[in-house]
Amino acid sequence: MKFPAIALIAASLLSAGVASAAEAAKAPAAASASAATDAPKASVESMVTTVCAACHNADGNSVITANPRLAGQHPAYMTKQLTEFKSGARNNAVMSAMAATLTPEDMVKLGQYFATQKPKGGNAKENGPGSLGEKIYKGGIAAKQLPACASCHGPTGSGIPVMFPRLSGQHAEYTGIQLKAFRSGERANAPMMKVIADKMSDLEIAAVSDYIQGLH
Ligand code: HEC
Ligand code: HEC
Repeated sequence: MKFPAIALIAASLLSAGVASAAEAAKAPAAASASAATDAPKASVESMVTTVCAACHNADGNSVITANPRLAGQHPAYMTKQLTEFKSGARNNAVMSAMAATLTPEDMVKLGQYFATQKPKGGNAKENGPGSLGEKIYKGGIAAKQLPACASCHGPTGSGIPVMFPRLSGQHAEYTGIQLKAFRSGERANAPMMKVIADKMSDLEIAAVSDYIQGLH
């Protein structure tokens, strides 16, 4: 986090630079296993409290509804997102700036940290049992060939590691922003979700996002 110049050099060397930085980061950890157990943990916690907590809360249960809840999310999914914010494969100005100085090792540790936080869960405003949101989530919309969200994200939204993220209890506002970003192509790091979001109207997006907020 302290050396933006190094990040710039790494970026200019493209993947070669990143790969060698990853190797360099691994070497000391392998060399002294006992010292490595405490030191990286402390630095992850300081990154969380000084940077991430402002928007995601230290326990990963963000209060601002445009900022995703990270608590209990699958670690490999979060590491993938951080890697793609940094590379630009996932387009978001705020998070790209946050990820710019993170090393591949930081991204793994940050994913592990938030994965072990306890998710608080939420409530749907209108889309409870029998709602449009529930129908879409559990059964899709056959006439539009929209598959059930549950088929990949699980009946309770717990997701299926490594590939399919947890959705349960996520803020409806954030979920709605993502579905619209998949549809417009602004978030282009998930071709499967582009196909799905393309079939959805604004009303359907709002309904399923509200349902997901109450899903647990
Ligand atoms: C200034 C506010 C802000 C800060 C600070 C911040 N984030 Fe974020 N984060 C966001 C927003 C907003 C999004 C949603 C981006 C989008 O819409 O694509 C996000 C998205 C994410 C995601 C993707 C989650 C998902 O479900 O796909 C991860 C992972 C993440 N942030 C981790 C972090 C970590 C780790 C830090 C600290 C190093 C951090 N964030 C700091 C605002 C912030
Ligand atoms: C064929 C499998 C599949 C189906 C069906 C599916 N998804 Fe997804 N979804 C994915 C994958 C894969 C990702 C992870 C994308 C990534 O790695 O960035 C994802 C990501 C998401 C995200 C982003 C989560 C986050 O934290 O940013 C949302 C929101 C989402 N899906 C909602 C839905 C909804 C709503 C439905 C039903 C209408 C649905 N998905 C159906 C595969 C699927």
